[in-house]
Amino acid sequence: MQDNSWIPLFPEQASTFAWEVDVLYFYLIAISIFFTVAVVAAVAFFVVKYREKEKFANGAEIHGSVPLELFWSFIPFVISMTIFLGGAIIYYKQYRPPENTMEIYVVGKQWMWKAQHQTGQREINELHVPVGRKIKLTMTTEDVLHDFYIPAFRTKADVVPGRYSTIWFEATKPGKYHIYCAEYCGLNHSGMGGWIYVMEQRDFDNWLSGNVSGQTPVEAGQDLFMNKLGCASCHAGGPTQRGAKLEGIYGKDVKFTDGQTLKRDDDYIRNSILNPAGHIVEGYQPIMPTFKGQVTEEQLVSLVAYIKSLSGVTGGTTSTSTSSGNQTQMSNSAAGNTNLVAPRADRGNSNSQGSNPNAPGNVSEPVNSNR
Ligand code: CUA
Repeated sequence: MQDNSWIPLFPEQASTFAWEVDVLYFYLIAISIFFTVAVVAAVAFFVVKYREKEKFANGAEIHGSVPLELFWSFIPFVISMTIFLGGAIIYYKQYRPPENTMEIYVVGKQWMWKAQHQTGQREINELHVPVGRKIKLTMTTEDVLHDFYIPAFRTKADVVPGRYSTIWFEATKPGKYHIYCAEYCGLNHSGMGGWIYVMEQRDFDNWLSGNVSGQTPVEAGQDLFMNKLGCASCHAGGPTQRGAKLEGIYGKDVKFTDGQTLKRDDDYIRNSILNPAGHIVEGYQPIMPTFKGQVTEEQLVSLVAYIKSLSGVTGGTTSTSTSSGNQTQMSNSAAGNTNLVAPRADRGNSNSQGSNPNAPGNVSEPVNSNR
């Protein structure tokens, strides 16, 4: 069970920024208590001191005091600025994921949370993560607005239809912590939640290897791209391709026919699939059909993961960066890390995980497709 904090009714502090949020919170409570007590005490004191002693007495005339006015302007200014700065700093840290995060996809749906790891494992209303790793959740929803909330980590974010939102965290101690939906989303809103399991890296690796890992998001995206949706017929690469180039584009700016530029991030890729006419990349014709209604959010997440992998962005995986994984797991996630960046020359090759000659530290033996 989840331990409680040393403060009654408080959830445990289990992430790197939990204590910062608590410090700010208690600072606000302390200020509120101080002024509540001070105002009530002053009222009580004045009621007694200045009570009516004679009928129709005139009060003393007061003409203002510059020092006093400066004093009661300056102190509240300092107090409100410390609150503002504290909040702004914590917000900035929480909503800007650092580099080298391990990325997990989360899709909300009435009334459950679905998660998918880079290595292919899927979970519902549960999320297993290693302790001491920076984890980034890329989240969206199949239907209405939800809000992913982990009180013990002091973090949450709205999960909004039609776009990706992200949170990140680094859990500081192994354990089991509540996940909630923190935005009213219909009948079973209160039941929409589950548990996040924070595990030692070795236990996490064991958990991963003990779970059927289906297609990874990149593999699933590649399958959709090559076969099911036929994206490859226009985006196949080479001089004859009709669709915009997809290799190496992620994170870079793109210029459109209307002169606008945008940075190509997850949202841009998602929007380009659903609303291709919205922005036409310079040098290309507006011929792409929309895929709205033909792909689920989970499939979109896979397509985004695949297109990112064409730029060498794989969202970091599990055990390659640590040495604790067992051998099977190591080779699996090595495939997840580098070999999944499928070079265009391998297009149409049935072994979709062909090795990438450009990948650093590339493991050259082809990984068998275990689907
Ligand atoms: Cu989902 Cu409330």
